[in-house]
Amino acid sequence: VKIYIPRDSAALALGAEKVAAALQSVIDERNLDVEIVRNGSRGMHWLEPLVEVATPEGRIAYGPVKASDVAGLIAGGLFEGKAHPLCLGKTVEIPFLKGQTRLTFARCGVIDPLSLTDYEAHAGWTGLKRAIAMNAGDIVKEVTDSGLRGRGGAGFPTGIKWKTVADAVADQKYIVCNADEGDSGTFADRMIMEGDPFVLIEGMAIAGLATGATRGYIYTRSEYPNAIAIMSEAIRIARGAGILGASVLGSGRAFDMEVRVGAGAYVCGEETSLLNSLEGKRGIVRAKPPLPALQGLFGKPTVVNNVISLASVPVILDRGAAFYKDFGLGRSRGTIPLQLAGNIKHGGLYEVAFGLTLGEIIEKIGGGTASGRPVKAVQVGGPLGAYFPTALFDTPFDYEAFAAKGGLIGHAGITVLDDTADMAAQAKFAFEFCAVESCGKCTPCRIGSTRGAEVIEKVIRGIEVEKNLALAEDLCNTMKFGSLCALGGFTPYPVMSAITHFPDDFRPAVVREAAE
Ligand code: NAI
Ligand code: SF4
Repeated sequence: VKIYIPRDSAALALGAEKVAAALQSVIDERNLDVEIVRNGSRGMHWLEPLVEVATPEGRIAYGPVKASDVAGLIAGGLFEGKAHPLCLGKTVEIPFLKGQTRLTFARCGVIDPLSLTDYEAHAGWTGLKRAIAMNAGDIVKEVTDSGLRGRGGAGFPTGIKWKTVADAVADQKYIVCNADEGDSGTFADRMIMEGDPFVLIEGMAIAGLATGATRGYIYTRSEYPNAIAIMSEAIRIARGAGILGASVLGSGRAFDMEVRVGAGAYVCGEETSLLNSLEGKRGIVRAKPPLPALQGLFGKPTVVNNVISLASVPVILDRGAAFYKDFGLGRSRGTIPLQLAGNIKHGGLYEVAFGLTLGEIIEKIGGGTASGRPVKAVQVGGPLGAYFPTALFDTPFDYEAFAAKGGLIGHAGITVLDDTADMAAQAKFAFEFCAVESCGKCTPCRIGSTRGAEVIEKVIRGIEVEKNLALAEDLCNTMKFGSLCALGGFTPYPVMSAITHFPDDFRPAVVREAAE
């Protein structure tokens, strides 16, 4: 019998290690023929640790399981996949999972992340093998035709970025994977690195073949120790198996890679700051141009792509551009891993084609708030994303549709707040966050963030409210158009959306009463 217990950080934080140890001790005690497989997460956080039992009818899920549940589960027939109060039935039939279109996360939670046999048995390396048989230009064209856009947040067409690097003439080129994942409430990059690291290796190797880069770096943060360990081990295994190295899968083409760990500054997720940090310098933003695609790491042409962008490439090469492009709408093609967090009943990762409305995502998939109170605001796109009120719940999840409503989808982090949230406090927090994380290179962000927090504080105290709100708006315009990078440039999104959609929160009772 095979029993699956995740080794993903979310499951570990919720006690998966203790569950595995309790189960193992029973197996050892009774000398049972049971194998525990440590898989990645299925992405249903409210059910973690999710224990699955392989049966001839498919995997049966139990969750959330505590170490103290193990004895009862075994007595109740866990090894036979029998019913129990914690039994959720067949894993694939759980509605949260059943409704998804898992292309990038197809293997995540299914396989043992470090088993090459498992990876190969689930269509692993088929994209890379196809890429090896193609010329570089055709690989780039396939990615361009798929419509894949940067999943880190900016949504720049991946194929066009690759073409810029491919066309550049240089003695050395690099593939840099941005795994810094600084957006609060997001975890897709971490989940794929912990649950299916070979897919990222495969995507980076394909990027290398397409652009002529022979060296890759995964830049991630020290707060991701589990992902660092699994990813590094996967690279070692792939190198040992001849997948990475002087001859990728016997192709005669070289590509190798390593994991580099940053110190965890939010701004090091900005690509030029990341490159500085990777070079051993202070993580400070570089002016663009020159684009990293032309002068990136150590001044050489460099692809800087997010984890999910790169991890989506193998399925595109395997199934073809048309297959991938068929999902989604408008200029947002393929699937997007939504990350539901904050005050939400069913938090976790939901991979789906672009196009669901925000309301469907929060109410139907997420089940509304965890507190059971009405939703007040939803912040989409991390700490620099706009707050959307329920009046905008008809907005489809699509890069352009969100931009048209004054927001962004960013890295697809979705954080829900109920009606107890104070949006003036949230606006002040946005400025404070920017002040703490600012790299200090440009004035609008370095000074503006601190002045902004002060101005909102005055509003909160009821001091010259309208005058200070006008000042905040002016300051936001300066930051939006005068900042060198997205940190200062996007801080106005949470601030202005809070002021625009929740005006009452900025007019304290004392001010409202005086006006009446
Ligand atoms: P950007 O719009 O300046 O650039 C997007 C990408 O396209 C960059 O890699 C840039 O070098 C590349 N590019 C632009 N023109 C090109 C050309 N002609 N040829 C080749 N490449 C070209 O956006 P930026 O500043 O890189 O990213 C901002 C985004 O980052 C925001 O939308 C935000 O959502 C996201 N973000 C994500 C975080 C996360 O944790 N994933 C954290 C913070 C922000
Ligand atoms: Fe640095 Fe802020 Fe300017 Fe970005 S906007 S370069 S983080 S000071």
